[in-house]
Amino acid sequence: MPAGARSRADDRRRAAVEEFASDVRYYVTRRPRQLPSKYLYDDLGSALFETITLLPWYRLARAEMRLIGAHGREILASLGAPAATIVELGPGNGTKLATLLAARDSGSPSLSVHLIDVSPRALTRAVRTVREAAQAEVVSHEATYEDGLLELAQAFGASHRTLVVFFGSNIGNFDPPAAAAFLRLIRAVLRPGDALLLGADLVKEERRLLLAYDDPLGVTAAFNRNLLVRLNRELGAAIDLPAFGHRAAWNREASRVEMHLVCDRGCRLAIPVAGVDLALAPGETLWTESSYKYEVSGLQRALIQAGFERGPVWIDDADRFALMLAQAGG
Ligand code: AVI
Repeated sequence: MPAGARSRADDRRRAAVEEFASDVRYYVTRRPRQLPSKYLYDDLGSALFETITLLPWYRLARAEMRLIGAHGREILASLGAPAATIVELGPGNGTKLATLLAARDSGSPSLSVHLIDVSPRALTRAVRTVREAAQAEVVSHEATYEDGLLELAQAFGASHRTLVVFFGSNIGNFDPPAAAAFLRLIRAVLRPGDALLLGADLVKEERRLLLAYDDPLGVTAAFNRNLLVRLNRELGAAIDLPAFGHRAAWNREASRVEMHLVCDRGCRLAIPVAGVDLALAPGETLWTESSYKYEVSGLQRALIQAGFERGPVWIDDADRFALMLAQAGG
């Protein structure tokens, strides 16, 4: 690698560590103590998450895939006119979008696909999968969803239709005000007639929710504890991993599954690079993630408040998962 490129890569790495340290300092000293869920996804965390999607107890990924496979044609037909641009936020390994694109008519006009994600590794894989599945130009954008959308908005033309897809119930990892703001941002970059296809997990029995987030094989526990591995490796901590247990809890009032790391006997949390040194009381937790579960009506209200029109909904009854299409209002 040339010296200039190497020093730019070093600068980026340093800035990422500084941001991680300052987020950890801010969130871990709040009450309740937290660690932001976006840090669950380093390479190991992303691989563990992909394994979670294969677990028999985490059914939402398969439910969504069934809906896309069964209703892809109908979903695309509901747009009214063929989409010329499709933007996927967080494409994962690309198979969901590839399945949707396989439902396009053979005579469909040319399509450009834009994939937005912060992980270059995920993008490389998703681009390959989507390219293999569709006759389309596929462009990747290594960016946050917000930055990627704002950058792309300039390219959305008035003369053609854009579809933004946000699968995987990723919307569930935003708290309600952030979800509302994010839907408004998506609406703001679209033109009337463009659309959003949103996948969201629905409220179901507590027993099923808890099995999905505290699986008997311990994969979700490893996914959660990997955040502590990152604190040790990247921020100079020396946390004793087995001292922290994994806990998933259904908060019915807030309609969310919470993931926590629990220190049953009380722990010292020293994270030198973040300037943190504190004692956790016995039973105190670090709250690492929320997965909000929706009712279709609530999500429809949120979409309408963000400036979308009420659109068709496809529901997987067995696993209580919804795909919703919402067109940008005029
Ligand atoms: C990525 N996201 C939608 C997953 C979810 O269900 O909230 C992350 C996850 N956390 C634990 N298991 C899966």
